[in-house]
Amino acid sequence: MKDYIQHDEWKIIEEGFHKEDNRISESIFSIGNGRMGHRGNFEETYTGDSMLGNYVAGVYYPDKTRVGWWKNGYPEYFAKVLNAANWLGIAIKIDGEELDLNHANVQEFRRELDMKEGFLVRTYKAELPSGKVVSVEAKRLLSIVDDECGAIRYSLKAENFSGTIEYTPSVDGDIMNEDSNYDEKFWNEIAVEAGDMEGYVVMETKKTGFHVATGMRVNVFKNGEALTPAVEKITREKYVANKFAVELAEGETAVLYKYACNVSSENYDKADVLKYAKTRVEAVQTKGFETMLSEQAQAWESKWEWADIKIEGDVAAQQAIRFNIFQLNQTYTGEDARLNIGPKGFTGEKYGGVTYWDTEAYCVPFYLCTADPKVTRNLLIYRYHHLERAIENAAKLGFDNGAALYPMVTMNGEECHNEWEITFEEIHRNGAIAFAIYNYTRHTDDNAYLAEYGLEVLLGITRFWAQRVNWSVQHEKYVMLGVTGPNEFDNNVDNNWYTSYIATWCMEYTKEALDWVKENNPGRYDEIVKKTNYKEEEAEKWQDIRENMYLGYDDERGVFIQADGFFNKEQILVKDLDPKHLPIVHNWSWDRILRSNFIKQADVLQGIYMFEDRFDLETIRKNYNFYEPRTVHESSLSPCVHNILAAKIGDEKRAYEFYLRTSRLDLDDYNEDTKDGLHITSMAGTWMSVVEGFAGKRVEKGALVLNPMLPEKWNGYSFRLQFKGTTLHINVNKEGVHLSNESEKAITLKVYGKDVTVEGNTKQTLTK
Ligand code: BGC
Repeated sequence: MKDYIQHDEWKIIEEGFHKEDNRISESIFSIGNGRMGHRGNFEETYTGDSMLGNYVAGVYYPDKTRVGWWKNGYPEYFAKVLNAANWLGIAIKIDGEELDLNHANVQEFRRELDMKEGFLVRTYKAELPSGKVVSVEAKRLLSIVDDECGAIRYSLKAENFSGTIEYTPSVDGDIMNEDSNYDEKFWNEIAVEAGDMEGYVVMETKKTGFHVATGMRVNVFKNGEALTPAVEKITREKYVANKFAVELAEGETAVLYKYACNVSSENYDKADVLKYAKTRVEAVQTKGFETMLSEQAQAWESKWEWADIKIEGDVAAQQAIRFNIFQLNQTYTGEDARLNIGPKGFTGEKYGGVTYWDTEAYCVPFYLCTADPKVTRNLLIYRYHHLERAIENAAKLGFDNGAALYPMVTMNGEECHNEWEITFEEIHRNGAIAFAIYNYTRHTDDNAYLAEYGLEVLLGITRFWAQRVNWSVQHEKYVMLGVTGPNEFDNNVDNNWYTSYIATWCMEYTKEALDWVKENNPGRYDEIVKKTNYKEEEAEKWQDIRENMYLGYDDERGVFIQADGFFNKEQILVKDLDPKHLPIVHNWSWDRILRSNFIKQADVLQGIYMFEDRFDLETIRKNYNFYEPRTVHESSLSPCVHNILAAKIGDEKRAYEFYLRTSRLDLDDYNEDTKDGLHITSMAGTWMSVVEGFAGKRVEKGALVLNPMLPEKWNGYSFRLQFKGTTLHINVNKEGVHLSNESEKAITLKVYGKDVTVEGNTKQTLTK
């Protein structure tokens, strides 16, 4: 754990240069705009420990898989979001001496991420080995208004000398991923072009053939006046730079503006990316840094209006929730259905920026309530576009008749994961994709989505489940063999309760969706039936499976059995384990982990969370009390589900502990892995902890439900929810729950078990 990040309601602040933690800070100070993102790397040359990271959404490389023992069906590659050209670089020499914070005496260092207005600023004073002192302020943003562009304002003051400042702003395309499996470089050069105070690099990804043009334009000012220095144009393979000098007298300041863009062939013809890079970067230069900054602040203001959570009386909690919301909005804006949310977003290489079930299970609940419905719709359409591939994927594994198995990890619809117990067995992800469709329709009433896209996906998924089960003569039930549930510490098990439960739920929901489309859009229904060759007998078979599915239940303990054999394991509680063994994933052999009863993340409890309205409180309590003490929470996705269930059963203390663990996970480097990047998808879990945990938000029988509690440490908290076209502002404090309907139409919801109607544009206060 670390605690060097200062607490502030709207800012993330690092005071003093924590050189040894630079990779952690680089992750924390990452910025993004949905289209691209980069880590908090420095502009100047830095020879100390650092992980460079610039990423362009959707641009990936299929890195050849490294596995010891190849098995039939293994994917041949792992798609990685690529570390792309670095446009941040502004190398600086002062009278020939490099400004490198690794070799300078750094004072008054401060990094500040302004979450309210969406920019990053770094200030410091550095004394070079020669004794010369400079003060620097570097401010930058990635524009969410011009989302192919970013800009830097870099001001440097000569504190105690007069001399020559030599600037070399560059675009460097000669970049490698740290996690390249065979130490390969993934980019080839297409073009390099240097102009006067401008430069462009066009790169092409190997194998996938994406073209990305990265451009820069530079201005420099002294005492408020634009300079026109003599520029040396530098080009070498994959690299372009401009070198020029500015004379500064003692006490004078020079300000350099660097405008940049990434233009990708995802959006333009390859032949045109350079042309567009030129126009994009010229447009933002003309607009100017200050205008970009104020437009950015306005754009963020409206994002915050939808998504902010205010917490009163606990600055650490306030900062944390905003950090999570900020990072989610930096990662995904919902404008492009080809894009998705990688577990590390644009903040690191691990998990390759690829799509997991995290999106549907964790991120969808967040975007559904905090953004325009089209944002979630696009996340769902992403999977619709991958349906053919999911059908092919299932066919490779021996399934037929349009059965679809979505990949555990994907970029373009193909499976990239290659640990067999995850790739072939962690099939519960199919269920989360179906659940997200259900979640979307119950929050938006956009049932037309089912006809247009959803039903085909549901049909593919349900067909998969129907073929994946088999009849067991021994149990006289349908069983699901050889699976891995969300708890990856229990592999290749039979009858994982969560997987089997969600499979039967998919069958039920798909039938409902078929009926709805048949009744409401018969033309489309006929079209889908024809396209998919759907036969009504299939639904009869699903019904039979649902009625006769084996779902393990332990009478003695009154709990669902995580999987066959779970009770053969020695039953030990985490509290009785010597803490030196934790995290077990780092300290124990895989074999020992698999034989233990320790649970990585919510498994049975994941199912109880998703289908909570089907279980009574006593069942929820018993399962929570049984499984949570055996859970090591070694996935960042774990604490939020436990927070929500702890709040549900009234264990406020545990709920708050889980909240802290999820919300400050990265800011305080809880799991000692922030250096690899931020846990973007689990950040949605932090939001869930407040809204579904503390505020008890649910949707039951089509209506919004709230059961708010106030954590002891807080004076109050408030947030907005989007629900079926209504915007509801909810403020929970010691006096009660204050609801404000900010829309025209009335909303009827349940608060503390009572029906409440809040008319359009009116307020109501309720108490427990
Ligand atoms: C978790 C998975 C998750 C993945 C990516 C793993 O550690 O066990 O549930 O999908 O990380 O976040």
